[in-house]
Amino acid sequence: MELMKVIETRQSIRKFKEEDVPVADLMEMAKAAGKAPSGKNVQNWHFVIIKNKDVMGKIAEAITERNAAIVEEMKKVDEGKALRFEKFCKNFTVFFLKAPALVVVLTREYLPSGYPEVTLVADAKREGTPVDLEKIGDVDTLLHSLKYEKNPGMQSLGAAIENFTLRAIDLGYGSCWLTSANYASKEIENILKEETSIDQNLFEEGFFMGAMLTVGVPGEVNKSPAKKDVEDFTTVFE
Ligand SMILES: Cc1cc2nc3c(=O)[nH]c(=O)nc-3n(C[C@H](O)[C@H](O)[C@H](O)COP(=O)(O)O)c2cc1C
Repeated sequence: MELMKVIETRQSIRKFKEEDVPVADLMEMAKAAGKAPSGKNVQNWHFVIIKNKDVMGKIAEAITERNAAIVEEMKKVDEGKALRFEKFCKNFTVFFLKAPALVVVLTREYLPSGYPEVTLVADAKREGTPVDLEKIGDVDTLLHSLKYEKNPGMQSLGAAIENFTLRAIDLGYGSCWLTSANYASKEIENILKEETSIDQNLFEEGFFMGAMLTVGVPGEVNKSPAKKDVEDFTTVFE
């Protein structure tokens, strides 16, 4: 498909036909993901492709249980918000159970340029070396900003996930990107460790769940929320 057509066709798909997605096609999507750029080319991603309904069921159960635990406590504070959160989980998270494939995307921390360097100077200062931190500015704010605000590790992951998604559309499938299950990520990681053939070393190396994706042939398609006009999110200075 022509690139702009793929981009324009993309929308979040939450209902799927009962048609299979062959592993060969899912591997094509992963291959496209692997072509994405990443900070220092670290390629900080691992796609766990799950077509096994038992494992998908266990993941959905873990999310539902965790959601219920949060909802129970929320109810003591704000019943309305608690019920909305419960409903959100049903409509916007565990719908993946009806998709033919679920992809759990793992990632790992990436320390951006400047982070280890500034840390080196700050540590030296703490140990008594007469370095001048004033010249660098507020070290703690800078380190926090580099790692958590700019977060190039997550930027790289986003590029890979978008490539995966666009290739899915190119091959005639639909997809939905999910991060709303991240509050159950530890439980999901344990299911991957215990119930799948995943290389356990990945977790030793620091990989953790960053997002999930559903893939399937689109069923009923709802209208996507409106998008801003390009002028509203672009500044041109010539
Ligand atoms: C990082 C990210 C996280 C998302 N998490 C969820 C989610 O947990 N559940 C869901 O149903 N949709 C999720 N979405 C889809 C968005 O709701 C959707 O992209 C947005 O509403 C725009 O609609 P469109 O994708 O159809 O253009 C997520 C999208 C992104 C990029």
